[in-house]
Amino acid sequence: MEDCNRRIIAPSILAADWGNVAAEVARAEAAGGDWLHLDVMDGHFVPNISFGPQFVAAVRPRTGLTLDVHLMIERPDVYFPEFVKAGADRITVHVEAQHDVGDTLKKIRGSGCKCGLAINPDSDFALVEPWLDQIDLLLVMTVRPGFGGQAFMEAETMPKVAAGKAWRQKHGLSYHIEVDGGIDTETVAIAGAHGANVMVAGTSLFKAADMAESIELMREA
Ligand code: DX5
Ligand code: ZN
Repeated sequence: MEDCNRRIIAPSILAADWGNVAAEVARAEAAGGDWLHLDVMDGHFVPNISFGPQFVAAVRPRTGLTLDVHLMIERPDVYFPEFVKAGADRITVHVEAQHDVGDTLKKIRGSGCKCGLAINPDSDFALVEPWLDQIDLLLVMTVRPGFGGQAFMEAETMPKVAAGKAWRQKHGLSYHIEVDGGIDTETVAIAGAHGANVMVAGTSLFKAADMAESIELMREA
């Protein structure tokens, strides 16, 4: 069983310099990142396109970090096997996407990857309730997905983090609670206080003067 109280810092490659991906991955690892977060966007589920499985496969041999793949795509059921082949360790799909959620989660686990379920700021917590006993991670989006560099949406999202923690306790479950979007050395403390333990951060880490120092601050905040 994974330790869902340990704070995990996950730099998000979306905010890296893509002309120097190998160096940026090495930088995140050397700075003390725990997982590397990879945002896949298809231009349908979100109004932006990022990268696909070939990119994940290119990153895989460059790092020993856990690859935490976040699929912001309309048909995660169709495409997730490509990300398994590419070397993902963890795959998170959205509850709002067009698929049989329970079936996709089961298949991701069956592939040997850890499975996560993500919920958008405008969605109700009740949407994820049916699947909480079948996941390794609950991702509460703290911005509307699609772009890095947005502001943390505290009011819309912290109640869902707290609900995820309360549900986990009540039902004796052990999923991680991850937050993603607008996380920095200040908002990390708010998310942590509500019960999140996995902190995804793009802009605030890759654009920091000293990434190692920012990671250390996020670990302690
Ligand atoms: C948003 C992505 C995030 C993004 C976070 O759609 O899911 O992972 O990289 O970036 P920052 O930390 O810049 O808000
Ligand atoms: Zn993400």
